[in-house]
Amino acid sequence: MSKGTELRSVLETVGVVIGSLVGAIILIVFATTKYEPSESPDKIVGEKKPSIENIAPVAEVKVMKDSTSDTKSAISGEKIAQANCAMCHASGLMNAPKIGDEGQWGPRIAQGKDMLVSNAINGIRTMPAKGGNTSLTDEEVAAAVIFMANASGGSI
Ligand code: HEC
Repeated sequence: MSKGTELRSVLETVGVVIGSLVGAIILIVFATTKYEPSESPDKIVGEKKPSIENIAPVAEVKVMKDSTSDTKSAISGEKIAQANCAMCHASGLMNAPKIGDEGQWGPRIAQGKDMLVSNAINGIRTMPAKGGNTSLTDEEVAAAVIFMANASGGSI
Protein backbone atom coordinates (compact mmCIF):
# COMPACT_ATOMS: atom_id res chain seq x y z
CA MET A 1 0.00 0.00 0.00
CA SER A 2 1.44 3.37 -0.99
CA LYS A 3 1.11 6.38 1.24
CA GLY A 4 -1.55 7.81 -1.11
CA THR A 5 -3.85 4.78 -1.01
CA GLU A 6 -3.41 4.46 2.73
CA LEU A 7 -4.45 8.08 3.24
CA ARG A 8 -7.40 7.62 0.93
CA SER A 9 -8.67 4.57 2.77
CA VAL A 10 -8.30 6.39 6.08
CA LEU A 11 -10.31 9.30 4.68
CA GLU A 12 -12.92 6.86 3.37
CA THR A 13 -13.22 5.22 6.76
CA VAL A 14 -13.56 8.59 8.46
CA GLY A 15 -16.16 9.58 5.87
CA VAL A 16 -18.19 6.46 6.42
CA VAL A 17 -18.05 6.93 10.20
CA ILE A 18 -19.11 10.59 10.02
CA GLY A 19 -21.76 9.75 7.44
CA SER A 20 -23.35 7.08 9.56
CA LEU A 21 -23.17 9.30 12.65
CA VAL A 22 -24.99 12.11 10.86
CA GLY A 23 -27.49 9.59 9.56
CA ALA A 24 -28.07 8.22 13.03
CA ILE A 25 -28.53 11.72 14.50
CA ILE A 26 -31.06 12.64 11.82
CA LEU A 27 -32.94 9.41 12.52
CA ILE A 28 -32.95 10.08 16.27
CA VAL A 29 -34.16 13.65 15.77
CA PHE A 30 -36.96 12.45 13.52
CA ALA A 31 -37.89 9.67 15.87
CA THR A 32 -37.97 11.85 18.98
CA THR A 33 -39.54 15.04 17.59
CA LYS A 34 -43.26 15.00 18.25
CA TYR A 35 -45.26 15.96 15.25
CA GLU A 36 -48.66 17.34 16.19
CA PRO A 37 -50.66 17.89 13.05
CA SER A 38 -53.95 18.43 14.89
CA GLU A 39 -53.03 21.56 16.76
CA SER A 40 -56.17 23.56 17.30
CA PRO A 41 -56.22 27.19 16.16
CA ASP A 42 -56.94 28.15 19.77
CA LYS A 43 -53.71 26.64 20.89
CA ILE A 44 -51.78 28.43 18.19
CA VAL A 45 -53.38 31.74 19.13
CA GLY A 46 -52.67 30.97 22.78
CA GLU A 47 -49.05 30.36 22.02
CA LYS A 48 -48.73 33.56 20.07
CA LYS A 49 -50.20 35.64 22.85
CA PRO A 50 -47.12 35.89 25.06
CA SER A 51 -45.05 37.33 22.24
CA ILE A 52 -47.68 40.02 21.69
CA GLU A 53 -47.59 40.77 25.38
CA ASN A 54 -43.83 40.93 25.26
CA ILE A 55 -43.85 43.73 22.75
CA ALA A 56 -46.78 45.52 24.38
CA PRO A 57 -46.03 48.94 25.87
CA VAL A 58 -45.05 48.93 29.51
CA ALA A 59 -47.74 51.40 30.46
CA GLU A 60 -50.99 52.44 28.90
CA VAL A 61 -52.54 55.84 29.09
CA LYS A 62 -56.30 55.69 29.41
CA VAL A 63 -58.13 58.80 28.38
CA MET A 64 -61.28 59.13 30.44
CA LYS A 65 -64.21 60.84 28.85
CA ASP A 66 -66.48 60.54 31.83
CA SER A 67 -66.97 58.27 34.78
CA THR A 68 -69.36 56.00 32.88
CA SER A 69 -67.01 55.16 30.05
CA ASP A 70 -64.22 54.66 32.57
CA THR A 71 -66.31 52.14 34.49
CA LYS A 72 -67.11 50.30 31.30
CA SER A 73 -63.59 50.10 29.96
CA ALA A 74 -61.51 49.51 33.07
CA ILE A 75 -63.78 47.14 34.99
CA SER A 76 -65.63 44.20 33.50
CA GLY A 77 -69.13 44.34 34.93
CA GLU A 78 -69.84 40.97 33.40
CA LYS A 79 -66.95 39.29 35.20
CA ILE A 80 -67.84 40.90 38.52
CA ALA A 81 -71.49 39.95 38.12
CA GLN A 82 -70.64 36.36 37.22
CA ALA A 83 -68.34 36.04 40.21
CA ASN A 84 -70.39 37.91 42.84
CA CYS A 85 -73.98 38.33 41.78
CA ALA A 86 -74.87 35.38 39.55
CA MET A 87 -75.37 33.01 42.48
CA CYS A 88 -78.65 34.82 43.17
CA HIS A 89 -79.30 36.77 39.99
CA ALA A 90 -78.75 33.89 37.55
CA SER A 91 -81.24 31.55 39.20
CA GLY A 92 -83.57 34.03 40.88
CA LEU A 93 -82.60 32.76 44.32
CA MET A 94 -84.47 34.59 47.11
CA ASN A 95 -86.56 36.22 44.36
CA ALA A 96 -83.60 38.17 43.01
CA PRO A 97 -84.44 39.62 39.60
CA LYS A 98 -82.94 37.22 37.05
CA ILE A 99 -80.33 38.49 34.64
CA GLY A 100 -82.02 38.70 31.24
CA ASP A 101 -85.57 38.83 32.63
CA GLU A 102 -86.86 42.09 31.21
CA GLY A 103 -90.17 41.81 33.05
CA GLN A 104 -88.47 41.62 36.44
CA TRP A 105 -85.90 44.27 35.68
CA GLY A 106 -88.12 46.77 33.85
CA PRO A 107 -89.63 48.50 36.92
CA ARG A 108 -86.29 48.43 38.74
CA ILE A 109 -84.43 49.94 35.79
CA ALA A 110 -87.14 52.61 35.65
CA GLN A 111 -85.87 53.89 39.02
CA GLY A 112 -82.78 55.10 37.23
CA LYS A 113 -79.18 54.04 37.28
CA ASP A 114 -78.19 55.99 40.40
CA MET A 115 -80.94 54.44 42.50
CA LEU A 116 -80.14 50.93 41.25
CA VAL A 117 -76.44 51.36 41.92
CA SER A 118 -76.99 52.80 45.38
CA ASN A 119 -79.42 49.99 46.26
CA ALA A 120 -76.84 47.44 45.11
CA ILE A 121 -74.08 49.14 47.12
CA ASN A 122 -76.14 49.58 50.28
CA GLY A 123 -78.42 46.59 49.91
CA ILE A 124 -82.18 46.59 49.67
CA ARG A 125 -84.55 44.29 51.55
CA THR A 126 -83.16 40.75 51.03
CA MET A 127 -80.44 41.96 48.64
CA PRO A 128 -77.25 42.17 50.74
CA ALA A 129 -74.99 45.22 50.43
CA LYS A 130 -72.60 44.72 47.51
CA GLY A 131 -74.11 41.26 47.07
CA GLY A 132 -72.40 40.27 50.31
CA ASN A 133 -68.88 40.91 49.03
CA THR A 134 -67.79 44.05 50.85
CA SER A 135 -64.34 43.90 49.27
CA LEU A 136 -65.88 45.10 46.00
CA THR A 137 -65.43 48.80 45.32
CA ASP A 138 -68.46 50.98 44.57
CA GLU A 139 -67.23 51.24 40.98
CA GLU A 140 -67.13 47.46 40.63
CA VAL A 141 -70.65 47.09 42.00
CA ALA A 142 -71.84 49.85 39.65
CA ALA A 143 -70.24 48.06 36.69
CA ALA A 144 -72.00 44.83 37.68
CA VAL A 145 -75.34 46.65 38.01
CA ILE A 146 -74.88 48.25 34.59
CA PHE A 147 -74.04 44.87 33.08
CA MET A 148 -77.05 43.14 34.64
CA ALA A 149 -79.50 45.90 33.79
CA ASN A 150 -78.29 46.18 30.20
CA ALA A 151 -78.43 42.39 29.82
CA SER A 152 -82.05 42.62 30.95
CA GLY A 153 -83.47 45.08 28.48
CA GLY A 154 -82.07 48.27 29.99
CA SER A 155 -79.63 50.80 28.56
CA ILE A 156 -78.26 52.57 31.59
C1 HEC B 1 -77.63 36.64 48.24
C2 HEC B 1 -78.27 36.84 46.97
C3 HEC B 1 -77.87 38.04 46.17
C4 HEC B 1 -76.63 38.36 45.72
C5 HEC B 1 -75.32 37.62 45.92
C6 HEC B 1 -76.78 39.58 44.94
N1 HEC B 1 -78.08 39.99 44.95
FE1 HEC B 1 -78.84 41.63 44.04
N2 HEC B 1 -80.68 41.19 44.72
C7 HEC B 1 -81.00 40.08 45.50
C8 HEC B 1 -82.42 40.11 45.80
C9 HEC B 1 -83.15 39.07 46.62
C10 HEC B 1 -82.93 41.26 45.20
C11 HEC B 1 -84.37 41.76 45.23
C12 HEC B 1 -84.49 42.65 46.45
C13 HEC B 1 -85.88 43.23 46.57
O1 HEC B 1 -86.21 44.09 45.77
O2 HEC B 1 -86.58 42.81 47.48
C14 HEC B 1 -81.82 41.91 44.51
C15 HEC B 1 -81.94 43.09 43.82
C16 HEC B 1 -80.89 43.70 43.17
C17 HEC B 1 -81.01 44.93 42.40
C18 HEC B 1 -82.26 45.73 42.17
C19 HEC B 1 -82.33 46.77 43.24
C20 HEC B 1 -83.54 47.66 43.08
O3 HEC B 1 -83.37 48.86 43.32
O4 HEC B 1 -84.59 47.16 42.72
C21 HEC B 1 -79.77 45.22 41.93
C22 HEC B 1 -79.39 46.41 41.08
C23 HEC B 1 -78.88 44.18 42.39
N3 HEC B 1 -79.59 43.27 43.14
C24 HEC B 1 -77.54 44.14 42.10
C25 HEC B 1 -76.70 43.15 42.57
C26 HEC B 1 -75.31 43.14 42.31
C27 HEC B 1 -74.56 44.18 41.47
C28 HEC B 1 -74.78 42.05 42.90
C29 HEC B 1 -73.34 41.58 42.93
C30 HEC B 1 -72.35 42.53 43.30
C31 HEC B 1 -75.87 41.38 43.56
N4 HEC B 1 -77.02 42.08 43.34
C32 HEC B 1 -75.74 40.22 44.31
C33 HEC B 1 -80.13 39.11 45.91
C34 HEC B 1 -78.78 39.06 45.67
